[in-house]
Amino acid sequence: MATEIFDKLNVIIDEIESAQPANSQDLESFRIKYLGTKNILKPLSGEIRNIPNEKRRDFGLLINKAKQAAEQKFESIKVALSSAQDEEAASKLDLTAPGEPVELGSRHPIALTMNRIIKIFERIGFVVAEEREIEDDWHNFTAMNTPEDHPARDMQDTFYLKDSTTMLLRTHTSPVQARVMTSQKPPIRIIAPGRVYRNETVSARSHCQFHQVEGLYVDKNVSFADMKQTLLYFAREMFGPDVKIRLRPSFFPFTEPSAEMDVYLGTATEKDYRLTKGTGWLEILGCGMVDPKVLENCGIDSDEYTGFAFGMGIERQALRLYDIADIRSFFENDIRFLKQFSSVM
Ligand code: DAH
Repeated sequence: MATEIFDKLNVIIDEIESAQPANSQDLESFRIKYLGTKNILKPLSGEIRNIPNEKRRDFGLLINKAKQAAEQKFESIKVALSSAQDEEAASKLDLTAPGEPVELGSRHPIALTMNRIIKIFERIGFVVAEEREIEDDWHNFTAMNTPEDHPARDMQDTFYLKDSTTMLLRTHTSPVQARVMTSQKPPIRIIAPGRVYRNETVSARSHCQFHQVEGLYVDKNVSFADMKQTLLYFAREMFGPDVKIRLRPSFFPFTEPSAEMDVYLGTATEKDYRLTKGTGWLEILGCGMVDPKVLENCGIDSDEYTGFAFGMGIERQALRLYDIADIRSFFENDIRFLKQFSSVM
C-alpha cells in the first residue's frame, strides 16, 4: 500500500517535470491540476495516515518535492509565455506606419493684424515699444493731460486694481508715450502694440478688453503734414493703394489739434456695407499733434521739439481683414474658430 502511493507520487513528479504547457490555456489547466485548491496532490497528502511511521518523513519530503516542482514549472512557463507574447507584439509593430499627427497651432487673427501693422511702420523707421498693462494713474491719465475730472477717469470706464485709487488696467496704449518720453531723448519714433481694458458692456461690437497700436514721433520740426503723409502711407499699405483717407477734427486731451481718421472702403461688398454702416467710411484711429503740455510733463522742451501721435484700434481692422462678424469670437478661444487663420504673416 505504502509503496503504491510512493510510486504514484513519483509518476506525478515525472509528469510535472516533463509537462510543456504551450499556451496560457494549457498553463492554466496545469495550475488547476497541480496547484489549484482541488489539486491532485491534496488527496494524496491525506494518505499520510496510512503510511508507517518510519516512512512518513520521506513521504512528506516527496509531497513537498512534487509541490515545488509544480511551482517552479508554473513560474518558468509563465515567464517564457509572456516574453513570447511580447515578441509577437513587437513583430506586429509596423515601424513604417505614419505617426500620430502633432497638432500645430496657428496665429491669432488679432496677432496677425497687429504684426501686419507693425511691419508697415517698421519699414519707415518706427521701432516697437512694449509696456506694462497694469499702469498708474500718472502715466495713463495725468501725464497725458487728462484732468482729474475727465470722464475717462470715471470708475465706470476704468478698471482700478482692488483697493487702489492709483493702479489700474491701462485704458489705452497712450501711457507708453509717457513711458518712452520720460526715459528717452528725441528723436523718438515708436509704435506700441498691446492690450487695453475698459469697463464696457460686452457686445458683438465692443469688448472690455481690446487691442491698440499707438504711434509717436517726436523730433525738431515735426508737422501736421508729416503726420498726414505717414497715415496715408499706412492706409495704402494696409487697405490697398487706392484707399482714400479723411481726417475729421476731434478732441483728445493729449493732442492739439486732434483728428480722427477714416478710410474709405466703399459699400460694394456686404461686409464693407455692414462694417461702415452703409457710409463706406471706417473710422480707424485718433491722432494729432502732441500737446506741448504732454511734452513738458515728460521733460521734453516743447519750444525745441514737436511731435505727432496716433492710436488705432485693432479689432475693427481684424474684423474686416478676416471677415469676422462678432468681436467676442476673438476672446472665446474656440479652437475651431482660431484654426481658420493659419496663414503666417
Ligand atoms: N488713446 C486714444 C483712445 O484710446 C486714441 C488716441 C487718439 C491716441 C489720439 C493718440 C492720439 O495717440 O494722438 O481713444
